[in-house]
Amino acid sequence: MRATMMAVAICLGVSAAAAAQDAKVTKGAEVYAAQKCALCHSIGDKGNKKGPLDGVGSKLKEADLRQWMTDAKGMTAKTSATRKPEMKSYALPKDDLDAIVAYMASLKK
Ligand code: HEC
Repeated sequence: MRATMMAVAICLGVSAAAAAQDAKVTKGAEVYAAQKCALCHSIGDKGNKKGPLDGVGSKLKEADLRQWMTDAKGMTAKTSATRKPEMKSYALPKDDLDAIVAYMASLKK
């Protein structure tokens, strides 16, 4: 009985964490739209096809995704990116930043 209760509690905990993560990703998609990232990037069929972000969550680590947001100049230099106009850093509130990084990280191939 005790073990069953524990198992139920653990399952509920895991699904609550998954739901919180989903909410973050959804919010990140909203931030992406609000910040007009699609002017220079595409996801799926939408946006600027010169900068596809499909699969970027498999390609880049979370720390790099974050750094693109906060230090785009540094990342442009680090990756020798040549596409113009180059990306600028975004000074977003922490919640929005966390959400958009979670959204990018969810774009897996
Ligand atoms: C003015 C154009 C511009 C805007 C607006 C812009 N970016 Fe970028 N971004 C770039 C360029 C240029 C690069 C360098 C890589 C490339 O050529 O796509 C880049 C790189 C990236 C990368 C790394 C891609 C990779 O494949 O390594 C991510 C992630 C990214 N941007 C996310 C965003 C997000 C999220 C937003 C909105 C908050 C945004 N960008 C807005 C121009 C832009």
